Amino acid sequence: MKYKKRYLYIENVSTENIAKKFGTPTYVYSYNKIKNNISNFKNNFKNLKPLICFSVKSNSNLKILNLIKKFNLGADVVSKGELLRALQANIKPEKIVFSGVGKTVDELEFAVNKKILLINAESENEIIEIEKIAKKKRKKINIGLRLNPDTDAETLKKISTGKKENKFGLTKKKFLELLKKYKASNFINIICLSVHIGSQITSHIPYMNMLKVINKIIQKSKYQFKFIDLGGGMGIQYENNSKKLDYKKYNNLIKSFLKKNNSKIIFEPGRSIVGNAGYLISKITYVKKTKSKNFIILDTAMNDLLRPALYGSKHRIIASKKNNKKILKKHEFVGPICETTDKFLTVPRYQKINQNDIIVICDVGAYGIVLSSNYNLRPRPPEILVNKNSTKIINKRQKLINII
Ligand code: LLP
Repeated sequence: MKYKKRYLYIENVSTENIAKKFGTPTYVYSYNKIKNNISNFKNNFKNLKPLICFSVKSNSNLKILNLIKKFNLGADVVSKGELLRALQANIKPEKIVFSGVGKTVDELEFAVNKKILLINAESENEIIEIEKIAKKKRKKINIGLRLNPDTDAETLKKISTGKKENKFGLTKKKFLELLKKYKASNFINIICLSVHIGSQITSHIPYMNMLKVINKIIQKSKYQFKFIDLGGGMGIQYENNSKKLDYKKYNNLIKSFLKKNNSKIIFEPGRSIVGNAGYLISKITYVKKTKSKNFIILDTAMNDLLRPALYGSKHRIIASKKNNKKILKKHEFVGPICETTDKFLTVPRYQKINQNDIIVICDVGAYGIVLSSNYNLRPRPPEILVNKNSTKIINKRQKLINII
């Protein structure tokens, strides 16, 4: 993304033109950014030859999943819907893992029928249901056990999953107990130890602590896992100069872990693949000036992009047409929804902007459209894929008529 003669471009298309052609609000993804993110991710862990399963929950657009498949990634799914979507994109079942604390019997059965690589079980109840399915079908089902390592991911509380107070995974004690109980089962085959401690992680230290715990558990259990699924969580830079995950350090930690444990590594990245490849283009409906600040009222809202309202997360907002007139006053970018949390960002100053100007909200490729809703009966925005000069609609704007 760069300015050319004051106009902002995503690849070779100006955001002004996208707004003109497709209207606003509109989600836009850069094909080449996704492609680069995938190849960087692969390069960062090349030595490990891991299985990389894209976390479909971060972006489940079929055309995006087609890219994921094209670049040979697998999928991490958490529902029957996501599993269907991954299969629809022709991602091979043997590259699909299924996570989640509350998979229903119907979902489990469906996953078994589709012969996916493994189901990561998170409770004894779930294992019992999987065993029942196996008995019924007279087959042995491959599963993973998800460990809750009780390590701090040092990220937002609301997106931490690896502490013992979180609902995810099995405590160390329970993990060992269930492993012992089920390792000789005729119906399930425990082939994986899985973890996922949280999202938007920007330091290797939480991963280091996580690996220490896994290592101890394996030593204790003396069990050989074919796969170690380390989950996702690799953070991106939402702000210029914000903290960055050191992949080299994380890689080294895994390397030394593998010296003691001979398993194949699985990753489940979502945000690091698509996060910074997505933009939300919006038009300014009104500029409301008060003594202390200017409210920039946009035509996009928390129903389109929930992250700021839900987690207090910050996304950079950039003017589509740059000028040099700085207004030294607080600017608060808000949506039109009748909720006080329907606001995106407050900045101490901004360039001069007016009604009908176009702005771009950055880094919304992950957990953007997937968290959108029809709150206030607002239709969902379309999704556009940009590849060099070309623009393609990969999901149409919802029609009001279809939601009323
Ligand atoms: N694997 C499992 C089991 C997960 O629960 C998640 C994300 C991932 C992989 C992918 O994590 P990633 O690489 O994208 O960090 N809505 C929140 C994030 C929720 C993440 C949920 N689990 C947000 O907008 O920040």
